[in-house]
Amino acid sequence: MPPGTKSVPQHIAIIMDGNGRWAKAQGLARIKGHEEGARAARECVEACAELKVEYLTLYAFSAENWQRPKSEVFALMRLLEKFLKEKTPELIEQNVRLQAIGRLTDLPPACQQQLHKSIEATANNTGVTLILALSYGGRLEIIDGIKSLLRAIELGHIDKGMIDVAMFSKHLYTRYYPDPDLLIRTSGEMRLSNFLLWQLSYTEMYVTQKLWPDFTKKDLFAAVEEYGRRQRRYGAVE
Ligand code: FPP
Repeated sequence: MPPGTKSVPQHIAIIMDGNGRWAKAQGLARIKGHEEGARAARECVEACAELKVEYLTLYAFSAENWQRPKSEVFALMRLLEKFLKEKTPELIEQNVRLQAIGRLTDLPPACQQQLHKSIEATANNTGVTLILALSYGGRLEIIDGIKSLLRAIELGHIDKGMIDVAMFSKHLYTRYYPDPDLLIRTSGEMRLSNFLLWQLSYTEMYVTQKLWPDFTKKDLFAAVEEYGRRQRRYGAVE
């Protein structure tokens, strides 16, 4: 194995794209694509548990997704709430610890309540940490991080001369997690879509043409296998 390469990533992040196109291709309503997408997400959690991946971050709803038609936003929030309610016993059984990042107070109250319930119910689990990015935007996160740093300076907890990469990272939503090693994006689009802008600096990217509802455990294994062949240099030479 080349130096600097770990065959299994510690943290996988996924941009689950293509639910709408999948539904359209089947002549179904967009929400059916999201429902199938939730099934694919569940399969990926299982795959990560099998591989002993420690962290899995799923981009489930972006800060920009609020601009979608009200009916789709409402249906997605209902789906999220239902998914959490139904799947929490399964998450407990699989030893999965649920976490969430983003402006969570933007979510409808019922959704927030269920989310906190599920987070609490899985808090002591020691297997995969599943992090849902909800009402998440990378630029907003950086702005919230700057505000948090400024507050710490005002309170005299830190001096501005002490600010460095490691310290700033501790003021982001992701402060408890390592940066992703592997980013997977489905449906062939070659963009970050405001996802984890700070944290993806040295992440290996894997883009597949498959639409998210068609993404299976086997596809995740293939992405991890490809990751194992990458040589990570973090900007240095060998
Ligand atoms: C992108 O497809 C997907 C989303 C905006 C939502 C992702 C949500 C899920 C997979 C379901 C809920 C997930 C969990 C974990 C409960 P798109 O609608 O942008 O597809 P398109 O680009 O083809 O229109």
